[in-house]
Amino acid sequence: MASELASGQTVVGRYRLLRPLGRGGSGNVWLAQDLLRDRRAVAFKVASHTDDELTAESLRQEFRVLTQLLHPHLVRVFDSGLLPNGARYLTEEFVDGETLWSVSGRLPAQCIEPILVQLLRALDYLHKRRVIHGDIQPANLILQWSIDRDGSRHPLVTLVDFGLAHVADGTRTVTGGTHAFMAPEVRLDHRPDVLSELFGLAATMFAVVTARAPFPKQLTPPEFLLQGPPDFSDFAAAVPDAVRSCLKRMLSVSREGRYQSPREALDDLVYRSSGRISIASLDTAPSYLNGGALVGRLGLFEALKARHRAGPSRCVLVGPMGFGKSRIARELQVQAQLDGAATFRQAVAPANVPYAAAAALADQIVSQVGQGAVAEAFVETGRRRARGISSVRHSFAPSLLQALAAVDELTPRPVVIIEDIDLADEWSLNLFRDWARSGADFTLVATAQHVPASSIQCSTR
Ligand SMILES: Nc1ncnc2c1ncn2[C@@H]1O[C@H](COP(=O)(O)OP(=O)(O)O)[C@@H](O)[C@H]1O
Ligand SMILES: [Mg+2]
Repeated sequence: MASELASGQTVVGRYRLLRPLGRGGSGNVWLAQDLLRDRRAVAFKVASHTDDELTAESLRQEFRVLTQLLHPHLVRVFDSGLLPNGARYLTEEFVDGETLWSVSGRLPAQCIEPILVQLLRALDYLHKRRVIHGDIQPANLILQWSIDRDGSRHPLVTLVDFGLAHVADGTRTVTGGTHAFMAPEVRLDHRPDVLSELFGLAATMFAVVTARAPFPKQLTPPEFLLQGPPDFSDFAAAVPDAVRSCLKRMLSVSREGRYQSPREALDDLVYRSSGRISIASLDTAPSYLNGGALVGRLGLFEALKARHRAGPSRCVLVGPMGFGKSRIARELQVQAQLDGAATFRQAVAPANVPYAAAAALADQIVSQVGQGAVAEAFVETGRRRARGISSVRHSFAPSLLQALAAVDELTPRPVVIIEDIDLADEWSLNLFRDWARSGADFTLVATAQHVPASSIQCSTR
């Protein structure tokens, strides 16, 4: 069944679709506003058919891979789940720019080197995490400009579309890619790997400079293997020699002729730049400390996951700052999202306003569960409360509790994460406790630095 979506529509009570950004063969990408997150702009990617298993699986995989990554030149992912009609979606950072495809042949020559360096840094980061993107090409790279105080413009490029990505040595076998940018061995059915990624990157840069692919499209794989090096004669003269020879080497038809890793290519450029280029920049250096797979707390995560799968569970993760509580909670959230479950996450901000923390979470739940009687009662009491009607304090609690309890209607079992629950106002805390003690079918994971005096006990029903 086709998933009919239209501009102006709000989906899963949270994303207002503004306009289409791109339409692929199988999926559509929309610019949307996240109504639960200050209306921030997001890219909303969704399968165009509800029964398209392949796209659904590819979106699932894209989400799974992206949650492990954090790098200034890789798109950041936010959320994934299922529409009421069963179609999978994911949301990610909206990169407000143009694709390299749309600027091919028109970029100032001095931009080529910084773009190549940024992308080699990104590939090096992916390589160290054994992630293969699988479809590096100009339409999957978005270019933005950052402007310095002195008015000079610098290119900033972001890699999107991890729909064909996989973790090397993982179980998934991936085929596909975009012909003109595909390494010869991949056209011959070799599994994409870091060497074919380097080829794809160089083919992309070549096309960005010259507005044509480095090798004729119609070459069959055997002809390809007999090809000489691509023709660089109409390559912009202002592109530095070091960049040109780096690209030539990456475009080697034989795998042995290429650099053997993105780092090797980067080292070469750095060496030849006499100190102008560095391996990492101020913004890429921290990436090596963040992101990546969950390590060290795997046992705890597995235990939480097992409990969540077995039945509704409630848990408070208590530990000092830096213990990794949020990371474990986040990992459980990702797992639930992959399972197609709704998830809610509320970071408590310290404010001694009655019911502030509970109301913020209830807002999220009500907007997702829908417009039933609960929502109406909730909105109405919220309004009266905003007008300062004092009797509301008493009537607000039951309607809030009702709103929170509505989470029970969602299947599969939703996951609710309350971060820093110990900072919640005491009214909310009491409410959370009553809610947690109810038998409602949801998993609650709270984090705290100190156990609140009246704490929720870690328990399973
Ligand atoms: N995060 C994003 N921000 C802005 N535009 C995007 C984003 N993701 C995708 N796009 C646009 O949508 C197009 C298609 O998205 P993509 O993820 O590449 O899907 P497909 O699998 O259809 O190729 C891209 O070429 C780009 O123009
Ligand atoms: Mg794409």
